[in-house]
Amino acid sequence: MERLDKLLAATGRWSRKEAKALIKAGRVQVAGERPAGPEDKVEPGTLVTVDGRPISTETYVYVMLNKPAGVISSTEDPREETVLSLLPNQLRRLGLFPVGRLDKDTEGLLLLTNDGPLAHQLLAPNRHVDKVYYTEVDGQLDEADREAFREGLTLADGTVCRPAALEILADPSQALVTLREGKYHQVKRMLAARGKPVVYLKRLSMGPLTLDPSLPTGRWRMLSQEERAALGR
Ligand code: URA
Repeated sequence: MERLDKLLAATGRWSRKEAKALIKAGRVQVAGERPAGPEDKVEPGTLVTVDGRPISTETYVYVMLNKPAGVISSTEDPREETVLSLLPNQLRRLGLFPVGRLDKDTEGLLLLTNDGPLAHQLLAPNRHVDKVYYTEVDGQLDEADREAFREGLTLADGTVCRPAALEILADPSQALVTLREGKYHQVKRMLAARGKPVVYLKRLSMGPLTLDPSLPTGRWRMLSQEERAALGR
C-alpha cells in the first residue's frame, strides 16, 4: 500500500506538493471515489484517475539517454554537469541513477532507472551482458589487433581482459568493440595496449537494449514497452 500523494508523485508528472493540491481540489479519484485526503493508502493496481484520465501508478521508470560528451555519469556532483541534469525536474525527483558508467568524454547509450534489481542484473559480472561500442582510434586497426582482442589481452598494468570482439570497419581507424565485462576505461585501455589510442567512443548497446538511432545526442526518452519487455520489465 502506498500513500496517494506519493504514488502520484512517483509518476514524475507532479511534485508531492502538486499532487496534494490536485487531491484537495477533488481532481483525483481512486477506484471511482473521491479520496479523503493525500494520506489515503492505495493498493497497487487500483485505478487512479486525474481529471478522469487514468494514470499509470507504476513506480519504476526507465529512461534511455544518448549521453553527450562533457557530462559525468553520476547522480550529483558539486562541480561537473551530470547526466541527471539533462532530465526534467519531474524525472529527477524519482531517484533515477545510471546503470553503469560511461567516461565523461564517451557518448551513447545510458539507461537511467530507479529499478535497483534490474541494474544489479545488468551489471553483475557473472551475467556477462554484452556491451557494444563504436570507436575511432589514432592508427589503423588490423588482424593482429582483432586476434589480440579475441584471445583476451593484457593491459599495461597487468590486468587480463576476457576475450572481446573487435570488428574493424571499412575505415580501419574505426571499429565495433564488444565487451562482456566492464573494467574501468576498458575500451580505451585495451586499444592503448595495442598502441592505438581511442579518439572517439560511443556505446551502441547494452544487452538487449540498443541506442535509438533517431535519438539525438544529449536527448532522452522513456523505454518503449518492447524495450522493457526485452529487459524482462
Ligand atoms: N570503455 C571506456 O574506456 N570508456 C567508457 O566510457 C566505456 C567503456
